[in-house]
Amino acid sequence: MSEEKSYPEATPPEGEGDDLVPDDPARRKLIWGGMGLAAVTYAGAIAYPLYRFLADPAEEAAELAKVTEMEIPDDELPEPGSATIFQFGIRKAILIRGADDAMVCFSAICTHLGCTVDYQEDQDRIYCACHGGVYDAETGQNVAGPPPRPLEEYRVERADGKVIIHRS
Ligand code: FES
Repeated sequence: MSEEKSYPEATPPEGEGDDLVPDDPARRKLIWGGMGLAAVTYAGAIAYPLYRFLADPAEEAAELAKVTEMEIPDDELPEPGSATIFQFGIRKAILIRGADDAMVCFSAICTHLGCTVDYQEDQDRIYCACHGGVYDAETGQNVAGPPPRPLEEYRVERADGKVIIHRS
């Protein structure tokens, strides 16, 4: 036979413990203020890098899209009979310098599926290795393979000591 034991309710002695945590509104306000500040700081520390990570590519692309003109100093031009590929705003471009020193510039993005084209000096043509697309090196016209359209052409202006490429 078991007997249930009963214990007296635990109550603090009167007057004791009341002064351990005083009900001070100013102190409570200070603690809540500190916790709020810590929460805001913590949220900012997480949110700011995330914002930069997400916003940077979009902002950068928007800035690059505004680029419509670019200068290339004469000493950075390709040798006659060769070409150079360079970043022009958001896209790559190809500047071809003919053996006669005439220069043409096109988007270097293939109009088929967007691979970067290249200049083949030995055949004097623009070639896309992805699917064998061929473009005329003087006009950018698509002449063989799957590309459906010519390459976009950019205007080339020769100035004193430099070449200026224009995309209008
Ligand atoms: S992407 Fe250039 S030929 Fe297909």
